[in-house]
Amino acid sequence: MNDQKAHRPIRSFVRREGRLTIGQQKALDQGWPKFGLSLEDGPINFEKVFGREAPCIVEIGFGMGQSLAEMAQKYPENDYIGIEVHRPGVGCLLKAILDHDISNIRIYDQDAVEVLKQCIPDNSLAGLQLFFPDPWHKKRHHKRRIVQPEFVQLIWQKLAPNGFFHLATDWEHYAEHMMEVLSADPGFSNAAGFNEFAPRPESRPLTKFEQRGQRLGHGVWDLLFKKSL
Ligand SMILES: C[S@@+](CC[C@H](N)C(=O)[O-])C[C@H]1O[C@@H](n2cnc3c(N)ncnc32)[C@H](O)[C@@H]1O
Repeated sequence: MNDQKAHRPIRSFVRREGRLTIGQQKALDQGWPKFGLSLEDGPINFEKVFGREAPCIVEIGFGMGQSLAEMAQKYPENDYIGIEVHRPGVGCLLKAILDHDISNIRIYDQDAVEVLKQCIPDNSLAGLQLFFPDPWHKKRHHKRRIVQPEFVQLIWQKLAPNGFFHLATDWEHYAEHMMEVLSADPGFSNAAGFNEFAPRPESRPLTKFEQRGQRLGHGVWDLLFKKSL
């Protein structure tokens, strides 16, 4: 293994450049200059970016973005930052933003871990949501799962006191892994009670993955934790 490879961080995603539809490309061209954010911009000033002071919630891996767009419209009092590396998904969310005139979402198209580290100030977020992260089924790929003790620590650092961390998955083993990692972190308390999964909160719209899971008869596990220390 050469030196460069040895030091390459393990990522939770593989960038696959899916084909963009004409609508997604158009939305990227029109919407990105207004709603896109970049690591290169450095630490974010929420008030400056959104033009107001409001609770800010980050969603990691929003997929095609339907549920995030729905949420932002349902809760106009909140601001949302979506992070997604899949460009067709970014295009799709930008299309929804433009079509529905949504003003309370901004987007990063880079690795969420880097965005959190480099751009999100400590103790600043009202909440962070991670819905149906890639489960990386094979044992040898488990190291790629985004929910790991170090990642949970990073989220703790970015949440405001009492901020929430909401996770959902349709993969039972990953749900158990999430529960184990979060329960072991003394900085979080389980809003549903020790070792308990949460009932699906009304705030979480059905995502594309969940609808698919439902069709296949999968269960869904929600975990709701609060920053306690
Ligand atoms: C299984 S999909 C779920 C998408 C969506 N939340 C849903 O429920 O339909 C997981 C998504 O997370 C994105 N993702 C994985 N790791 C990421 C990372 N480190 N930063 C940003 N996005 C990431 C992937 O590109 C993928 O679109």
